[in-house]
Amino acid sequence: MLAIIGGTGLNQLGNLKITHRQVMRTPYGEPSGPMTFGTINEHEVMFIARHGYGHTIPPHMVNYRANLWALRDQGAKRVIAVASVGGIRADLVPGTLVVPDQLIDYTHGRSFTIFDGRENSVTHIDFTLPYTESLRCRILEAAKSAGEACLNGGVYAVTQGPRLETAAEVDRLERDGADMVGMTGMPEAALARELGLEYAAITVVVNYAAGRGASVKAIPLDEIGTFAQPAMARVRKILEGVVERDGI
Ligand code: HPA
Repeated sequence: MLAIIGGTGLNQLGNLKITHRQVMRTPYGEPSGPMTFGTINEHEVMFIARHGYGHTIPPHMVNYRANLWALRDQGAKRVIAVASVGGIRADLVPGTLVVPDQLIDYTHGRSFTIFDGRENSVTHIDFTLPYTESLRCRILEAAKSAGEACLNGGVYAVTQGPRLETAAEVDRLERDGADMVGMTGMPEAALARELGLEYAAITVVVNYAAGRGASVKAIPLDEIGTFAQPAMARVRKILEGVVERDGI
């Protein structure tokens, strides 16, 4: 089954016909909220709001391990994560949708692995390509069929938050090769790989990163919703297409 992790601006899926909700406990504690099960155009799908349904959990406090573990426990095989980001690359203007193909992890102090000594042996996952290519392609195909522009590839820098970056930090991220910056891409992607789940993301550029474009002096936080809302409606449309293509 396909699972969707909704980020800021996507606390629920409007086109999801809810069948039931399930409160979960995991070896890693509680997920961000109950798993929501339902159908989109008759196709089964599972949904969880990363920041909680009332948007109360900041990026560094999300129980990523519990979220991913619970999704797999409930039968998820594929996970599409939706996340808001700031655009660093000049063409990543607010409103742009991207399916990233790489990430750089700048987070710290998060519970980032399930291989923490409870397992019998030391386990290293391959993470050369952090996103599942076939799932990335499926998203891009769905976007194309829906007539929604969605860029193929980009490097997602994952910062600790919850504060936004300084302009100099964004300069550094750019020198490192990052195209966009957000706060939730890790450890989510790595945990999905550890748990054997296919995982890809749709990032939604909701602002120019600090020091760029309209954010030269400050990030206009009150304008983020203006870009996020219509962009999330486009994301929902794309997700509908992905769900229809999902083999279950
Ligand atoms: N930086 C970090 N995370 C973000 C941003 C940003 O500019 N915009 C949305 N999430």
